[in-house]
Amino acid sequence: MSPRHFIDLKDAGGDAIAAILGDAMDRKGARAGWPKGQVDGHSPLAGHVLAMIFEKNSTRTRVSFDMAMRQLGGSALVLDGASSQIGRGESIADTARVLSRYVDAIMIRTDDHAKVVEMANHATVPVINGLTDASHPCQILADMLTLLERKSKLAGSKWVWLGDGNNVCNSLIEAAGLMHFDVTVACPEGFEPDAGVLAEAAARGRTIPIVRDAATAAKGADVVATDTWTSMGHSDSDNRGQALAPFAVDDALMAGAGAQAMFMHCLPAHRGEEVTDAVIDGPQSAVWDEAENRLHAQKSLLLWCLGKL
Ligand code: CP
Ligand code: NVA
Repeated sequence: MSPRHFIDLKDAGGDAIAAILGDAMDRKGARAGWPKGQVDGHSPLAGHVLAMIFEKNSTRTRVSFDMAMRQLGGSALVLDGASSQIGRGESIADTARVLSRYVDAIMIRTDDHAKVVEMANHATVPVINGLTDASHPCQILADMLTLLERKSKLAGSKWVWLGDGNNVCNSLIEAAGLMHFDVTVACPEGFEPDAGVLAEAAARGRTIPIVRDAATAAKGADVVATDTWTSMGHSDSDNRGQALAPFAVDDALMAGAGAQAMFMHCLPAHRGEEVTDAVIDGPQSAVWDEAENRLHAQKSLLLWCLGKL
């Protein structure tokens, strides 16, 4: 039987995502106040090891997956792309075959999405996408968990994405189609999300409006979300900042959105660019819970990948 990979949210599908989010809520609640390294009851992943490959920088993804494995009773190891043989040209396929003999699951963060697909095609253990240029599905699991904690119901919720239609935005749109919530993207011309992702959402009955006015889009939203204007691997030499400036999130934007609106950002933030200090540190910000929820969502994701959920 082929392993349960998580390259994108659609690999799991709506029912499994709902199960993952429900399990994450339960597990998070059950260990409230515990020391961070204490293992969950029954050590569900005792003896299991996750290999994490990084070809791009990371703080949250690296630490949250490591702590996820510890809390589930397993462990994780890190392979830095550049200092491994991948950095000297060993193929992704051969790396997948070899790692599958040592570890129980593989998480990879890289640039080209095709590399994650290639890894999954040749691994005999689950492969998890820890971010590519095209998508960041683990982040959106955490974001959905954060919404659920504060608003109870994901279906029918209204999300507005402001700024660059990037990898995180693509995964948010995919989630909207699978989990039946609304996303509006407000971005400048030339910064739209992936056309294929938009088409897939439309095929699932979820048309994603692409608009040019941030304030109008944000009115009445449950979530106002944004991200850096310059993702890893992008160059900021093409005046991105100038084009994206009207989509910055500030107090006026949040006030116009309404008191019900929470602010989300996957982090790292470029304070003073896509978001002001006042918003990210203000009462509508959910970013620290959102960052914490990477841990809780990924624990349940790992359990799903390994057939224990
Ligand atoms: N949000 C996120 O993926 O953070 P890192 O780049 O620090 O992993
Ligand atoms: N869009 C950002 C997300 C970082 C977690 C990037 O790709 O750099």
